[in-house]
Amino acid sequence: MDRLTIHSPAKLNLVLDVLGKRPDGYHELRTIFERISLSDQIILTRNKTNKIIIHCTHPHVPKGPGNLVYKAAMMLAQDFSISEGLNIDIIKNIPVAAGLAGGSSNAAAVLSGLNRLWQIGLSQSQLVKYAARLGSDVAFFLYNTSYALGTGRGELIKPLHVKTKLWHVLVTPRVKMHTREVFTRLKLNLTNKRDNVNILLPFLRKGKIGRLAGALSNDLEPAILSLRPDFIYLKNKLLDAGAAGVCFSGSGPSVFALIESQKHALSLRAKFDRRYTQVFVVSTL
Ligand code: C5P
Repeated sequence: MDRLTIHSPAKLNLVLDVLGKRPDGYHELRTIFERISLSDQIILTRNKTNKIIIHCTHPHVPKGPGNLVYKAAMMLAQDFSISEGLNIDIIKNIPVAAGLAGGSSNAAAVLSGLNRLWQIGLSQSQLVKYAARLGSDVAFFLYNTSYALGTGRGELIKPLHVKTKLWHVLVTPRVKMHTREVFTRLKLNLTNKRDNVNILLPFLRKGKIGRLAGALSNDLEPAILSLRPDFIYLKNKLLDAGAAGVCFSGSGPSVFALIESQKHALSLRAKFDRRYTQVFVVSTL
């Protein structure tokens, strides 16, 4: 096998509770991840050099060591003494630095893809350890599950056996938000902390869209809005247009709406397409 093509989907966070700051500088999280149908494609091809070469037409995707896919491939090449070259082609559909974990998903695809292409034979739990070294959001993508609970930095994953399929309109303003900066702006208020995961989960399991919509939450929202106060209008416009509920994903700026049906989602997208260039109708994968 000389070539492998892998789908690399995005995620949303239906809940993102920040529980506190840790001694290592990260924040302790409790989150529900949802895998969605918006997806990049990663093509891994052996080459005859001894270099890792990244191809991607997107101008904001790093082509060298600044890209998590490069780091993922280097870690495996070094640890398993693999000297052969590799082309990594990234077909980018997921907006970059947008709270959708596109880069993390690409890195997970490269870890599991190279495990096969280079016949390394790592177990799932070994791959998860590599993922955690690359970033907090990488591990989720190694689990073949629609939904998962994420704890710790977000890297401790428990798949959730939930069959509900959701429809969303996803709007990503053309602004890059850096996760580190958003977390830095967060003012932690630990009194009266609600367990938003356990409030939302029963509604998700039963597919109760109205109740689920009311339970979406993201503790990073005040920090995101402190950087871009105008994004509150985007949330309100989606609600005014008939979305059941609206929430930021991760550290933003992507905003997703929960919509009752695909038909309704398509008509809502048509309204937002005129003002925002990155509007997607997506569903649970
Ligand atoms: O883990 P990752 O490299 O994706 O995180 C990027 C930055 O986001 C971290 O350096 C940290 O500042 C912040 N972060 C955090 N707590 C988390 C995840 C990320 O403070 N649980």
